[in-house]
Amino acid sequence: MKNSLLELMKDRRSVRAYKPDPLSEEDINDILEAGRIAPSSQNRQPWRYIVFTDREEIRKLSRNTGLLGLSNFFIKDAPCVIIACAEMKKNLRVNKKDYYLVDTAISFQQMILCAWEKGIASCWMAAFSERLLARYLKIPKSWRIVAMSPFGYPEDEEGFYGKLLDRFSSGERRMPMEEIVQFWQTEDEKK
Ligand SMILES: Cc1cc2nc3c(=O)[nH]c(=O)nc-3n(C[C@H](O)[C@H](O)[C@H](O)COP(=O)(O)O)c2cc1C
Repeated sequence: MKNSLLELMKDRRSVRAYKPDPLSEEDINDILEAGRIAPSSQNRQPWRYIVFTDREEIRKLSRNTGLLGLSNFFIKDAPCVIIACAEMKKNLRVNKKDYYLVDTAISFQQMILCAWEKGIASCWMAAFSERLLARYLKIPKSWRIVAMSPFGYPEDEEGFYGKLLDRFSSGERRMPMEEIVQFWQTEDEKK
């Protein structure tokens, strides 16, 4: 277990190779609880989750995410996949911005961090055909699919694809603080 939340967040990474070992029901429930208690705009809680734990169903799911979803073939080996949806009737729109994405992202990330603390890895995924997946899942028309993620224990070594992605799009590489933060200065400090 990590000593602090910051340490846990620094340690987390996207994993693209999973051991097939199943997750305990207790761990899955804890992960879902972390998502359930998240904050949301006007406390609207638009998130809705679909949980897959059956090996054969996960394999079928991986074949129903469209052409785009092919890049996420590795979900087929994970013992659990969670699909994060949003009930659009609960969406809050302010300043021409829809907050269902923010709300659901906060909730899903809480789940991801809760999982990581337990040694359970995951990988945010947006690469799927929403149209095909929604049809396969038979979700209500008022739902959007925001993201999905496998959850499982990481293989000792990333696969070739994971290593490749890590090289190009990941992991430790983050922008320096100066590029993303400005401290607002008082009039005195500006002088
Ligand atoms: C909204 C979102 C969508 C993502 N979609 C995918 C995806 O479809 N496939 C994938 O392999 N990684 C996906 N990622 C993972 C990112 O590539 C990864 O988080 C980023 O490169 C930083 O690496 P790290 O998570 O290991 O720190 C996604 C991440 C986010 C936040």
